[in-house]
Amino acid sequence: MTINKTLFSDHSGKNILITGATSGLGYAAAIKLAIQGAHVFVLARNAQKGATLIDDIKTNHPYAKGKIEIISCDLGDLSSITPACQKVRKATTQLDMIIHNAGVLNMKFKETADKIEETWQVNVLAPLLITHLLMDLLVKSADPKLIFTSSALHQGKINFENPEWRNQYGLVSAYKHSKLSLILLAKLLAEKLKGYNVGVYCQHPGFVSTGLGDTNGWMTKMAFKLFGKSPEEGSKTLLYLTDTPNSELENGAYYARSKVKSTTKESYEMETASELLRTVQKYLKEYIHSSSLVFDGES
Ligand SMILES: NC(=O)c1ccc[n+]([C@@H]2O[C@H](COP(=O)([O-])OP(=O)(O)OC[C@H]3O[C@@H](n4cnc5c(N)ncnc54)[C@H](OP(=O)(O)O)[C@@H]3O)[C@@H](O)[C@H]2O)c1
Repeated sequence: MTINKTLFSDHSGKNILITGATSGLGYAAAIKLAIQGAHVFVLARNAQKGATLIDDIKTNHPYAKGKIEIISCDLGDLSSITPACQKVRKATTQLDMIIHNAGVLNMKFKETADKIEETWQVNVLAPLLITHLLMDLLVKSADPKLIFTSSALHQGKINFENPEWRNQYGLVSAYKHSKLSLILLAKLLAEKLKGYNVGVYCQHPGFVSTGLGDTNGWMTKMAFKLFGKSPEEGSKTLLYLTDTPNSELENGAYYARSKVKSTTKESYEMETASELLRTVQKYLKEYIHSSSLVFDGES
């Protein structure tokens, strides 16, 4: 992957955790962040793809000031998240950014190892669990950031009766629901974390030619390949957020094309966001053993 050598910003000494960096725009972002000096922790389910990423940075970007470390973690298996976060804790006592970028878009209803619908788990539950488990490391940073990759596809309402869309599954409904959830939760966390200096943001990368939708038939695959922009282009808003100090960003906002954009009216309903957080906590109760700035202790 070719990356422009120009450095936007120096991240030397920073520790950045990112998911969804074995492919697509997250891959481009991880390379760039390592070039900029960060120690990038990549939570990845596929060891082979992780090795390719490491090989890429070493071979094609030997001038990189930082490094990439792969930590095994399958967001579709909640039991793998706590050990992965423990490995992060062993490696560092502070995180400067947590970037929740992994996501799935499924044509058909699919269950994870936890017997939970995959879009709901990978796109929403897993990032909240990681945030809960690592929040104490994040608040130690001088300029901490929590970034979620959402999408312009976030219309609709939160389906509290059936967040997994069982027996009413549709690719668009489940995906939009997961991305609306992230916008709501980001706004709520921005509010909750006021006073801890944590900047919380959502970003939309645009339509990007990535692996998203690769398993949804050749037409979807072709559409992404033909009409999507490059992963490097697609990573620009995310990198704008990583490179800009919190003081120059709008906390809780949704960014696209590196600018704050308004979202649907449902995405500003903070009572819905609070109920959503409680719903997420119920799903994760087996893995929440203490309170954090995200969740209120054992549920
Ligand atoms: N592409 C677009 O046009 C577009 C538009 C709006 C928003 N987005 C969002 O952008 C983000 C990045 O997607 P992308 O377009 O770059 O697609 P992508 O190339 O398919 O990348 C998705 C990433 O998520 C990872 N992932 C998926 N399930 C996982 C799991 N169970 N455990 C660990 N990692 C998992 C993938 O890992 P593997 O490599 O192992 O598969 C991959 O690294 C997603 O949140 C997506 O919803 C994309």
